[in-house]
Amino acid sequence: MISYNLTTPGLLITLEGGEGGGKTTQIVRLRDKLTAMGKDVVALREPGGTTVSEQIREVVLSAKNAGMAYTTEVLLFQAARAQIYREIVLPSLAAGKVVLMDRSRDSSVVYQGMVRGFGKELIDQLNDISTKNTLPNLTLLLDVPVTEGLSRVADAGNNNRMEMQGTAFHDKVREAYLQLAKEDTTGRWQIIDASASLEEVEAAIWQATQSIFPSAQTGA
Ligand code: TYD
Repeated sequence: MISYNLTTPGLLITLEGGEGGGKTTQIVRLRDKLTAMGKDVVALREPGGTTVSEQIREVVLSAKNAGMAYTTEVLLFQAARAQIYREIVLPSLAAGKVVLMDRSRDSSVVYQGMVRGFGKELIDQLNDISTKNTLPNLTLLLDVPVTEGLSRVADAGNNNRMEMQGTAFHDKVREAYLQLAKEDTTGRWQIIDASASLEEVEAAIWQATQSIFPSAQTGA
């Protein structure tokens, strides 16, 4: 039985979901609101966020690397994760900061574990190594119908190697996330309907964070 590191002075919030759910926009809004409340906030993305991890991101997401073996993909996402946790996430949590992450360990469970087929258990073992047994305090699943999410991504242009997969792949991603959130026994998952307007999604996210920021109610 793994003993998860749930008692750091800081708080870890992850935003998860398939393509086009608006995670990147919403993380900025959440960061700004929490900062305005006086919280010390760090916002990061995976893969990326450090010099080493951004270089790994280039390799793992480049459309030029269509021939990448799935095993290579699994290990590159973990390598980028190991670096950002050691360099930024764990020191920030130890210092009492609020760390917001645009994707983290659950992306690997869904994309590599459940969709590519490596299995949730194996990927979570690797996640435990990469994160030093760290689970998010709150995970927000920004859920959006696949066709809607993909059309938002297409509008933005510059599709990466994962976004270039077919609709069947993205259908599996959506189902896998919903399954993971529903199977959860820790209470850390909250499902957000991300097909609503940006403002409505922002309000739903703020509402969902109340469970870990009781005092945030008045700052809305
Ligand atoms: P990104 O451009 O950050 O996409 P998004 O805006 O959807 O977050 O690309 C990250 C891609 O990498 C995305 O398709 C999900 C995938 N991914 C994995 O497959 N496994 C992982 O562990 C992580 C962190 C991301």
